[in-house]
Formats: sequence, C-alpha cells, structure tokens
Amino acid sequence: MKVSGSLRVPGDKSISHRALIFSALAVGESRVNGVLQSADVSSTAGVLRGLGAELPQLSGAMTIRGSGWGALRQPTTDLDCGNSGTTTRLMAGVVAALPIAARFCGDASLSRRPMRRIALPLEAMGATVELSPHGGLPMTIRGGSLHDVSWDSQVASAQVKSAILLAALVSGAGARVSEPVRSRDHTERMLAARGARIHVSDTVVSLDRGSRIEPLDVDVPGDPSSAAFFGGLAALADSGWLRLERVCVNETRTGFLAQLARMGAQVVEESRALEGGEWVANLVVSPGELQGTVVDPADVPSMVDELPLLACLATRARGETTITGAAELRVKESDRIATVVANLRSLGADAEELADGMRIRGSSRPLRGRITTHGDHRLAMAFGILGAANGNQIEVDDRECVAVSYPEFWRDLDAVTAS
Ligand code: S3P
Repeated sequence: MKVSGSLRVPGDKSISHRALIFSALAVGESRVNGVLQSADVSSTAGVLRGLGAELPQLSGAMTIRGSGWGALRQPTTDLDCGNSGTTTRLMAGVVAALPIAARFCGDASLSRRPMRRIALPLEAMGATVELSPHGGLPMTIRGGSLHDVSWDSQVASAQVKSAILLAALVSGAGARVSEPVRSRDHTERMLAARGARIHVSDTVVSLDRGSRIEPLDVDVPGDPSSAAFFGGLAALADSGWLRLERVCVNETRTGFLAQLARMGAQVVEESRALEGGEWVANLVVSPGELQGTVVDPADVPSMVDELPLLACLATRARGETTITGAAELRVKESDRIATVVANLRSLGADAEELADGMRIRGSSRPLRGRITTHGDHRLAMAFGILGAANGNQIEVDDRECVAVSYPEFWRDLDAVTAS
C-alpha cells in the first residue's frame, strides 16, 4: 500500500465539547471555528439546548451568544447524551451547580459506563446524584449551591477533573483536584484563556472561588486522536508519506506519536505554534520497519484513545508489544481490552488479554476476517487502518459508527490510499 497527500483531520473532539460549553456559560458572543461536526458533539449541543442555552446548528463557523449559567433552566425532557461520556460527565458538573433536577440518559454503551466517579465528588460538593443500580445511566442530578472541594481522584480522567471544575465554576465554589497521572488539560487551558483564576501544578489543579469566564473566539485544532489513524496508516505503508495539517500537539495528547516514532516510523513535526492556548503543528509521517514496544501505566493517559490502534499496529511490528496500566480501556465505549483482543485473535493475530492491558506478538502473516465493533467508533477505525495494510482483508461489521467522532473517516482513507 502506498500513501500520499495532505489531510486536515476534523476538529478536536475534547476541545469542541468544551468550546460549546464554555461559550454557552460565558455572557456574550464567542466565535467557534472548526468545531467537530459529529454525533458526540451534537449530543453536547443538544444537552445545552435542553437546558435553555441558545446554540446555533453545528457548523464550521459558529457564533454563540452565551447568556451565562444564570439563564440555564430546568429541562422539560431527559438530557440525551447519546454515546458520549464527555457530554454526560462534563454536563453533570454544570447541572450539579444549578437549582434544577435533570435526568441524563444515553445509548446502551453509554448506559453501561461508570458514573460513580463523578457522582462521588459532586455529592461531596453538595449535589444529590441518583444512579442506576449498576452505577451508570440513567442518572438524576439535583443541583444547588455547592461548597468548596478538595478531591483526590483515583483515576486519571479529564472527564472527572472537568466535571469538578465546571461544578465549582458555575456555583462560585473553589476546587482542588489531584489525579494519579496528568490527564488531558483542555479544560484548564480554556478556563485560563477565558480569564478564570486557575492554577496548575503537575497533577494538581485548583480553581479559585468566584471565578468568572469571558467570551472567547476559538479555532479548534485538528484532533490528534483522529490524526493518529492516518499516522498509523502511513507507518504501515510500503511507501509514501502523509502530511497531517494543523493537529493539536498538546503534550497531554501526544503519547501515540511518541510511540509511533519509537516503533520506527518517521514522524516529523513542522511549524509548531501556540493558537488560542493550544499547541498546533503539521505532522509528516512516513513508513519504517516497525518494532514492538512497551506502553507503561504513566504513558496511558496521553494516548488512552489510541491504544486500540496501537494494538492493531503491533500485529505488524517485529517482536512483542505490551500495554499495562490501561484498565480504563475496559470502561470506554466498549471493553476495549476484550473487544480488541477478541477481534485480533479472530483475524489470526497473536494477542492476549491482561487484566489491565494486552500483549501482542507481531508477524507478517496476512490477517483476514470480519470484526465486530460493538458500535465502538475507535475499533471501526483502528481495524479499518489495519485492513488497508498489504495482504490483510478485514471487513468491519458497522462502518457507520465512525459518525461519533470522524464522520468522513472512510472517505479520507480512500483519498490517501488511492494511487
Ligand atoms: C475525554 C477524556 C478521556 C477520553 C475521552 C475524551 C475528554 O476520557 O477517553 O475520549 O474530552 O475529557 P477519561 O477522562 O475518562 O479518561
């Protein structure tokens, strides 16, 4: 397989959710360019509208007239979060600080995901959170005025950290959150860019009592988790290179790129610039003789969404790849340890589950068969990339689920592999 061309992957999903939420929460006009137009981000827009925010349709150039959190109201229907954990957990933080009651619901995959991790800190701040018996959705939150919190999170999760920071912001409380390893920091960066008084020291973040936020114009950079698929494709190719334009290279998101280079692919960064508080660069990736690698627990948060893809690449690398400290994969859109390993094995790859990760032994044996995504967008795309490698023939059972984060994925894949 040969790759060629330049690609601008869609806007970053994490930043898109936050751009909509913070623009609605600030009083005044914010312009948001390049927002990701996907099912997950639509879920956040829908929940904000359900709470009374006036949000235009998602588009490449949005003008959001925020009326502030004081204008948010009791919803008249359930808040439907679709497949989106980020929508649920971030908006739970907002609702917890409002004098309303709201019920969050979602699809079957989201309903299985753990919500106690946000219920506990929000309750510690004074909200009431009712979860389904298994600790997930549907979830009813009764909010109100909250008090200061100092929370030591057991998981490195930007969603948990952001839920607490949003609850504190909207209620005027102070918050201090620590986590075992630093997770993505887009909330902190956006709060700082909008004028909130936020302090970051390694794995501890604190927000001052009574912080305010201003409207802000945001250019959403390309999503490194979407760019990763095409970086992986270029790494697997026989020849050629791909230029990925304007990708967010925030260091809390670049673990996969570092691993790709360590495995032997050529990764060159061009024209790095700080735009609106986020680092952005063009990336040029070309193939290399891939070697197995080791992903340690401390590496996981900076590449958590890319681990299914890394596992797929590892089947084409020389030697063994071991991923540990990644138990969080079991509570993503699917149990990504079980679903990735089962699919790899069904294709003929040598893969095994570990309690908190996986082990894969690479070979050049062609991989053939049909994989089951369980509706998980990142599985569809990771196996789509593996299927493009020479000799492999992989059918993906549900190609449409990519709409969650990258609706044009298959079109882009065709465009860069056509010769
Ligand atoms: C996200 C955080 C990560 C990531 C998810 C998006 C975010 O989840 O997996 O796709 O935007 O905050 P956790 O915070 O649960 O690790």
